[in-house]
Amino acid sequence: MPPLLPPSLCFRVTRACNARCGFCLAPPDGVHPSGEVLRHRLDWLRARGVRSFDFCGGEPTLHPALPELLRHLHAGGGRGQVTTNGLALSDALLQALKATGGTVKVSLHGDRAHHDALVGCEAFEATTATVRRLVEAGVPTALQTTVVAGGGEAVGWVVAFCLQHHVRRLNLLPFIPRGRGRDRREDYGLEPFARRALRDEVKALRRAHLGHLDLRWLDFSLRPVPVVEPDGRVVWEGATERVDREICRIEEMIPTHL
Ligand SMILES: C[S@@+](CC[C@H](N)C(=O)[O-])C[C@H]1O[C@@H](n2cnc3c(N)ncnc32)[C@H](O)[C@@H]1O
Ligand code: SF4
Repeated sequence: MPPLLPPSLCFRVTRACNARCGFCLAPPDGVHPSGEVLRHRLDWLRARGVRSFDFCGGEPTLHPALPELLRHLHAGGGRGQVTTNGLALSDALLQALKATGGTVKVSLHGDRAHHDALVGCEAFEATTATVRRLVEAGVPTALQTTVVAGGGEAVGWVVAFCLQHHVRRLNLLPFIPRGRGRDRREDYGLEPFARRALRDEVKALRRAHLGHLDLRWLDFSLRPVPVVEPDGRVVWEGATERVDREICRIEEMIPTHL
């Protein structure tokens, strides 16, 4: 019996990254598949019913094949989205996004001091410039904010940023203790009451900004996410690695001369 795959999933093209977020749920693991391998995986998954792919990582914009993968997916009738820290979005990628109707989620976690402290480098300027560039180019752009302990004030700040910069969707992701975040859960972990209070605040903000900003509370400790890892495993990922469930491994039927 072939494995049952979801219609959309998170497709990690690499675990390499140009930032160093203390909370990172998918830090570098040394695996960086070629464009050829990734294209084969897209085809393999498309043939099994997957229609929509969220290209993520690691930092997906670091993979030189990303523009070509978006075009390949689009030519086959699939839908592509990119989740990025916004530090290095090339012109080639911008053109591919425009040509294929691809959408983008840019991770921005709060004002300059808060964002740079979480991301582990001076990222705020480049990331906010990328948001403006995408919006000006007409690429459907959302923001994505990871909310950590003591960082509740960032929510109001990013809502105001979205309204000011014509961003129409904002995903708020409460911290989960995966990857590098597992070692930092004492710093970043949200107590249950703080998590509930933030969720209720987001619900109220959602009502207040209905029609202008689509605010969503995406708590990955409540529902697992289907992910393709750079090593070709397809996994339902939960709040911690302990509860992960592997669905299958993608067969690597790549011609040997490549
Ligand atoms: C793993 S990153 C990969 C894509 C890209 N490098 C980025 O940061 O946008 C995907 C999303 O997960 C979020 N994230 C990373 N670690 C997290 C954690 N421990 N808890 C909640 N969200 C997290 C990031 O902020 C980002 O929005
Ligand atoms: S969350 Fe994204 S930007 Fe931050 S270290 Fe992880 S992969 Fe890189």
